[in-house]
Amino acid sequence: MAKLLETVDLVTNFYTYEGVVKALDHVSLSLDHGITFGLVGESGCGKSVTVRSMMRIIQEPGKVEGGQILFYPTDDGNAKPTDLLRQSESYMRALRGDSISMIFQEPNAALNPIMSIGDQVSESFLFHRKVEMCNKINADLNAAECRTFYPLKKILQALYRTAEKKPDAWILKVMSRIPFLKIWDRRLRREALRRSIDIIEKLGIANATEIVRRYPHNLSGGMKQRIVIAIALACHPILLIADEATSNLDVTIQAQILELLRELKQTEISSVLLITHDLGIVAETCDRVGVMYAGNLCEVADIKDLFRSPQHPYTRALLNSVPRLSQEGELQSIEGSVPNLVTPPSGCRFHPRCPHAMEVCREEFPEMKAVAKNHSVACYWVNR
Ligand SMILES: Nc1ncnc2c1ncn2[C@@H]1O[C@H](COP(=O)(O)OP(=O)(O)O)[C@@H](O)[C@H]1O
Ligand code: SF4
Ligand SMILES: [Mg+2]
Repeated sequence: MAKLLETVDLVTNFYTYEGVVKALDHVSLSLDHGITFGLVGESGCGKSVTVRSMMRIIQEPGKVEGGQILFYPTDDGNAKPTDLLRQSESYMRALRGDSISMIFQEPNAALNPIMSIGDQVSESFLFHRKVEMCNKINADLNAAECRTFYPLKKILQALYRTAEKKPDAWILKVMSRIPFLKIWDRRLRREALRRSIDIIEKLGIANATEIVRRYPHNLSGGMKQRIVIAIALACHPILLIADEATSNLDVTIQAQILELLRELKQTEISSVLLITHDLGIVAETCDRVGVMYAGNLCEVADIKDLFRSPQHPYTRALLNSVPRLSQEGELQSIEGSVPNLVTPPSGCRFHPRCPHAMEVCREEFPEMKAVAKNHSVACYWVNR
């Protein structure tokens, strides 16, 4: 499998009044093209900080202070990666959207309350897929059955060609103000709306033509989250990152949206990074999974291997704490509490709660090592 996005020894800290919160401690995570990767762990273990660091949207007082974030845009396995930590903010802005889209837990934060649904999805198409749409309209104008008055057709085609090459050209701005020639812009918007309706229908919303006229406050939570997914998909991303995107929804809607992501994975997107604290969701949806604890990555494995033969003591404890239909006896909870990340435990951060802790665990940070094909664990007890 070819790599898509990789973090190498990622370190992120938050400078708070209480002290420096060491939120990520040398997290090395690798995501391949074409898979759904689940990142799991208890609340506060650093899942969101990991993906926000990857996308460089960590807010003050947070700072990514070490490591590399390598992006491999093509899946041929030979391409040289780009280190995202060394790229400009304008590069990152284009990347977030054109290649990588993110959806979060709270759809309201992603939607504009005073813009219609149609305008919001269309805007995403106009921003990220303008070239493709101009191409399509130009091809339509060239078609034999096109009845547009010939001189007008030529002017319009020249405008679309300009829009493809130089979207911010002054001529386009001028033309958008001239009543008669404004039709080039109107036609582009009509195409964006047509695509928006298409994608909303694909997301299982039947009356899409009516929905596009509504505003976010007229929609239910599940519907709003679908619209957020539509906006993300309009960019045609290589990677879709969903950070607890279904956690606020009721179980049925949650199942529908996850099913939808699974279907879209076949057609619309190459890879998905799914962040959740719910192991059930991971088991049903993901190909591969990474387990985090207190800012450390503990174990990474293919989904079957992780559930069949979990190795890291924290992964084992986490799996034991999940109720199963076949389970006999009492549920085990993990003893002790999640550490304060201002003064995290030395060495392996799990050592105060670990039944197998040894002297070395208190002193040194365990490196991630392969224990089987596609299965790595960071633990002295496992790798002894
Ligand atoms: N804005 C912030 N200020 C201070 N600390 C933060 C901030 N955001 C996150 N953190 C710290 O980073 C840790 C990981 O947070 P997060 O990635 O949001 O956890 P989760 O795994 O639930 O997504 C938290 O325990 C917290 O200590
Ligand atoms: S490294 Fe040591 S403390 Fe950490 S999980 Fe393994 S055995 Fe436990
Ligand atoms: Mg989170």
